Amino acid sequence: MIKVEDLVLPSVAAINPYEPGKPIEELQRELGIGEAVKLASNENPLGPSPRAVSAIKASLADLNRYPDGANYELRRRIAARHQVDPRCVFAAGGSVEVINLLAFLFLRPGLNAVFSEHSFAIYPLATHAAGGTCRVVPTIDGYSHDLDAIASAIDADTRLVFLANPNNPTGTIYHRAEWKRFLGRVPEHVVIVADEAYFEFVRDPEYPDSLDDHNDARLIVTMRTFSKIFGLAGLRAGYAVARPEIVRLLNNVRQPFNLTSLAQVAVIAAMDDTQHVERTLKVNAEGVAYLEAEFRRMGIAFVPTHGNFILTEVGDGRTVYDALLRKGVIVRAMNGYGYPRHVRISVGLPEENRRLIEALEQVMFAK
Ligand SMILES: Cc1ncc(COP(=O)(O)O)c(C=O)c1O
Repeated sequence: MIKVEDLVLPSVAAINPYEPGKPIEELQRELGIGEAVKLASNENPLGPSPRAVSAIKASLADLNRYPDGANYELRRRIAARHQVDPRCVFAAGGSVEVINLLAFLFLRPGLNAVFSEHSFAIYPLATHAAGGTCRVVPTIDGYSHDLDAIASAIDADTRLVFLANPNNPTGTIYHRAEWKRFLGRVPEHVVIVADEAYFEFVRDPEYPDSLDDHNDARLIVTMRTFSKIFGLAGLRAGYAVARPEIVRLLNNVRQPFNLTSLAQVAVIAAMDDTQHVERTLKVNAEGVAYLEAEFRRMGIAFVPTHGNFILTEVGDGRTVYDALLRKGVIVRAMNGYGYPRHVRISVGLPEENRRLIEALEQVMFAK
């Protein structure tokens, strides 16, 4: 009998699929726990943008029609938001679609992608799916990207560099000076993927906006998402800004209707929902301040965050994760990210944060 696995690339057969945060329903089904709190996937705890919800309701009656395959109005609005040419905008079913398509386009056996040791789990998955090799670079202090080492790891076979800024799962950022130095060192055959999924949360004045550094001499793809600050993770929508030649290549390999009609109208509405964005920023800033103060009080080490989640050192991460689950609080174990002593906690609503702290205190300190 033929082995089906032998018919595909060995790097594809060896993939362990992405393990997402546990859905609330699953916890309820498995452990019979009602009223669970999910702080596991860096979602917006306030819910979706209300304007997006209204826009979806208003377009439900048109679901018999295919979406606009060109994502025309959405791309026009994103282009206006960033003051770029619409030909530079690629709309996607989440930034994960962009990552996968970039790997599909630019990698194959013999070519490699460079990224940090502790970064977004989709980078190695997408690289292996395309048959490419991962060149994994250690972080500086155990948590932050080492852009100098990343630049040094690039060779003639490198096609992609993935940089999450802020980084997931650490919440760290690199600053403008490091970024500029890095840009000066990257050869012209390398596509620099600036994954800015948490861009809108950052308040540090030295945080670089990679859109400022696009020019004809370099290949930068800036990625943003509607899953985080806009609260639309379930809808699957994100985008990339890049040179028109790159956008054209992405369009060559995407599926014809990569964004649903509901996603298109919803994100157009969400982009104008400044009230929802402001409320989200406030809830997040207050949540970060509360959680960090509580971690200090309990003597739990954590990595100061620039995003909407906190990497926290709790001892045996898997044990603490399991014990929190039994108390109805879902966080993310970090073994898959190379941090067996940590869990990553997404910032929730005030009462969800309190529930997490109460459960964590019992799990870690109760005799
Ligand atoms: C760094 C980073 N990039 C991309 C994504 C995925 O975003 P999307 O929902 O747009 O696919 C995430 C989600 O957690 C992320 O942390």
